[in-house]
Amino acid sequence: MTRSTGLRIIQPGALPEAAAAVKVNDLNVWFGTAHILREIAVSFQEYRINCIVGPSGSGKSTLIRSINRMNDDVAGYCAKGTIHVDGKDIMSESINVAKLRQEVGMVFQKPCVFPKSISENVLFGMQDLKKLTVQERLQIVENNLKLTALWREVSHRLHDKAVTLSLGQQQRLCIARTLAVKPKVVLLDEPTSSLDPVSSRAVEELMLELKKEYTIVFVTHNIQQAQRVADHLVFMCNGGVIEQGSKQKLFHNPEKELTRKYLNEEYCDC
Ligand SMILES: Nc1ncnc2c1ncn2[C@@H]1O[C@H](COP(=O)(O)OP(=O)(O)OP(=O)(O)O)[C@@H](O)[C@H]1O
Ligand SMILES: [Mg+2]
Repeated sequence: MTRSTGLRIIQPGALPEAAAAVKVNDLNVWFGTAHILREIAVSFQEYRINCIVGPSGSGKSTLIRSINRMNDDVAGYCAKGTIHVDGKDIMSESINVAKLRQEVGMVFQKPCVFPKSISENVLFGMQDLKKLTVQERLQIVENNLKLTALWREVSHRLHDKAVTLSLGQQQRLCIARTLAVKPKVVLLDEPTSSLDPVSSRAVEELMLELKKEYTIVFVTHNIQQAQRVADHLVFMCNGGVIEQGSKQKLFHNPEKELTRKYLNEEYCDC
């Protein structure tokens, strides 16, 4: 009798499959009569950078905004299907949306700092701040600015207005603010598209660090960036998922011709 060794064959360079922190199943989204997402079934693994690529208008933002219920407020929004985060059905009516948004943090395309000081920005989303001492608050500010590699740059000016930071620093501050509420999943929607190449690289380096502790879902238009940082890749087109799998598979051995063309940056009619 042959016994399974339990070993799995992994493509060179690919990480083994990790547990799914986010599972989307048969998700359909409409804005009014427009059918925007069609039968989406994807899994985002924990401690990985799960990267979504696809042409403009393919539904990438709509998909990630579904994971923390950001679409709820859009007029005419209607969704069917299921999304589980850490095993919890987040489309259920009984879900506490504010709590969900703490567990599933989001960073947007353009840095969106509040007209407050650097330290106040880090603490902005935290509950029960009044229960903390000044020293405890400072510690949280320091920890999160260290996590986002900003501490050395701003530790001497924590009371300065956040808008006085460079755009790249502002984006890392937004990430620090997102991390301060201790999310499990961090959604990043083209976080580097308004940054210069050096600041973009700093955010990429940061994501590579953060994946050790968080589930990262990252949307980018930049194929080279996806190649540098992604573990798992989802290719979307026209409201649907064309293909998903390890970065190695999609870049080197895709099943679909459309995937090959898109990732080779050839003209692709989808
Ligand atoms: N609030 C809305 N009302 C109506 N249609 C919308 C709304 N938001 C998005 N859409 C449409 O849904 C489709 C998907 O948009 P989405 O923003 O998800 O695409 P995307 O892949 O993120 O594009 P991009 O790469 O340009 O950011 C587009 O056709 C868009 O016009
Ligand atoms: Mg988008």
